[in-house]
Amino acid sequence: MILMADKSQKIIEGKCSFRIYSGDIKKSDSVFYNPLMRLNRDISVIVLNEFSAQKNKLLETKDKVHPFFAADVFCASGVRGIRYRKESGCDVVYLNDLNPTALDLAKENAILNDVDSLEFSLLDANEFLSGYKDSIDFVDIDPFGSPNIFLDSAARALSRYSMIAVTATDTAPLSGTYPKACFRKYGARPLHHDIMHEVGLRILMGQVAFAVSRYDKAFMPVLSFSDQHYFRIFAIATKGKTKTDNSLKNIGYVAYCTHCGFRTFLSSDKSLITCPKCSKTIQTGGPLWIGSMSDSPFLKSVLDNFDSELSEDKNVVKMYKFLNLVMEESKINYLFYDLHDFCKKNSLSIPKMDIIIEKLKSLGFSVSKTHFTPTGIRTDADVTELILSIQDKK
Ligand SMILES: C[S@@+](CC[C@H](N)C(=O)[O-])C[C@H]1O[C@@H](n2cnc3c(N)ncnc32)[C@H](O)[C@@H]1O
Ligand SMILES: [Zn+2]
Repeated sequence: MILMADKSQKIIEGKCSFRIYSGDIKKSDSVFYNPLMRLNRDISVIVLNEFSAQKNKLLETKDKVHPFFAADVFCASGVRGIRYRKESGCDVVYLNDLNPTALDLAKENAILNDVDSLEFSLLDANEFLSGYKDSIDFVDIDPFGSPNIFLDSAARALSRYSMIAVTATDTAPLSGTYPKACFRKYGARPLHHDIMHEVGLRILMGQVAFAVSRYDKAFMPVLSFSDQHYFRIFAIATKGKTKTDNSLKNIGYVAYCTHCGFRTFLSSDKSLITCPKCSKTIQTGGPLWIGSMSDSPFLKSVLDNFDSELSEDKNVVKMYKFLNLVMEESKINYLFYDLHDFCKKNSLSIPKMDIIIEKLKSLGFSVSKTHFTPTGIRTDADVTELILSIQDKK
């Protein structure tokens, strides 16, 4: 048993309080806790809350009672899994970690928060997941670095109607800084341009979709985003061969012209060799997910059900704004443009964000800001239409 007294500090997240080890945030810390992942955890709590409520409602109509099982497979201090039990409507939460000091701390934090129905294990994540075929309703994969080697066992453990949540902090390979590493880990070619984070996130989504499809489970993303140094995906997985086949129709490629900034989704690689706008050779990235990155009706329910008691909390306000933006942009399934980069490529002066948004709207285009960058817009206007709108000073 760890003596936490002078080694630890107390923090509050959501409706729970925790003891954590103080110090730098390093992998080698006795127990890893990253305060910068608070947004990730806050979002996970409310997304899981919405999903567990939806699933329970579905089972009620079928007159079935079935406990909701969640697994925090890399639990560290327990901060995530304990919040899932207390704030997200889960009946049983498994907390697993390979580090015995972490597991002891997680157990102490469970006592501190007076929560029951937690089951602890000290196993390698793949070993843990291999014991739960088709039986966990929410699997959270939050490792150090790449989640790639855990996706298969997570996919296998998912129940017939379930949710998988995946964090990846290996954004450098996924975003094209290390293309060989991306190909090794994800079997995909990244891009290293203005849209590199969106391409990286979509590569990760594609790999999660492939992993669940190996078990005839269809991948249906409800929320995917990039924040600071990590990507995060939440997707519903539903058992069924036809649904899975249909879901895989959303696997494709992106084409990108480094000269004029043309960009588009492709259903097959090499189906486009030269840019349709400027005839220069284009680059392609993928395979990756080309469907919507998030499900706006699902996100609307998440946002509608915000706990009003917490609405004064600055973390909640930040999360609300962030999710609202992600919801709005997910309605426009086109690759975003970074306006600064686009104007540089086409020798244009950079327009004011609000003015170009209004201009495009007045011309009947869909347009929104993007959470990927404050200088980006997502629109169905093509390169020529965007250039004309930027040049038009009326
Ligand atoms: C990024 S931290 C998890 C943070 C935690 N989910 C949170 O929100 O605070 C990764 C954790 O995974 C554990 N870990 C690393 N490799 C593992 C493996 N193969 N199986 C299980 N746990 C592992 C580490 O001990 C560490 O506690
Ligand atoms: Zn071009």
